[in-house]
Amino acid sequence: MVKKRACIFISGSGTNLRSIIKSTRDYNFPINIELVISNKKTAKGIHYAKKFSIPYQTITNKTKFEHFALRFIRLKKIQIICLAGFMKILSKDFVRKFRGKIVNIHPSLLPKFKGLDTFNRVLRAKEKFTGCTVHFVDEKLDNGKIIIKKRIPINKDLSNKMLKNSVQVLEHKAYSEAIRKIHNLS
Ligand code: GRF
Repeated sequence: MVKKRACIFISGSGTNLRSIIKSTRDYNFPINIELVISNKKTAKGIHYAKKFSIPYQTITNKTKFEHFALRFIRLKKIQIICLAGFMKILSKDFVRKFRGKIVNIHPSLLPKFKGLDTFNRVLRAKEKFTGCTVHFVDEKLDNGKIIIKKRIPINKDLSNKMLKNSVQVLEHKAYSEAIRKIHNLS
């Protein structure tokens, strides 16, 4: 199998990055992570790039982030970009350049609860279920075509932290499943 050359964008703890790295150890997993890009110097996720000897770049320049990212992406001949806890909104221009090639994970059952502070809003709304969604990125926030959703029931008296932990366990399965699914569809 010819594996796609992937770049993972991160801003934070990088647990989704870690789960994708784990999957890449499987011979049949359809991507290789050629590059990790963080827009935050302090992102804990950079640690996983170092640990697994994956090339990484930190681009903290807010206005020129995309300019520099594009340069590295071209240099590494990247074919798919996975946003994994990447907290910067990409410009329409950037998204159009990579239409159908940027994937994101969001901690809710989209189209419900787009945006930030997801878990508090889910709890306040007294939802019976929640989960996570992996989707293609388009010009609107948390909006593109859905690849996979995974859901769990919300038990009474669940705290924000407990809910976040449970959803993250789901996310770590969902992201790799979605990457396999895209490959099987293409
Ligand atoms: C995840 O919950 C993801 O859905 C959201 O940001 C969080 C990132 O977590 N977009 P991590 O950095 O992968 O640990």
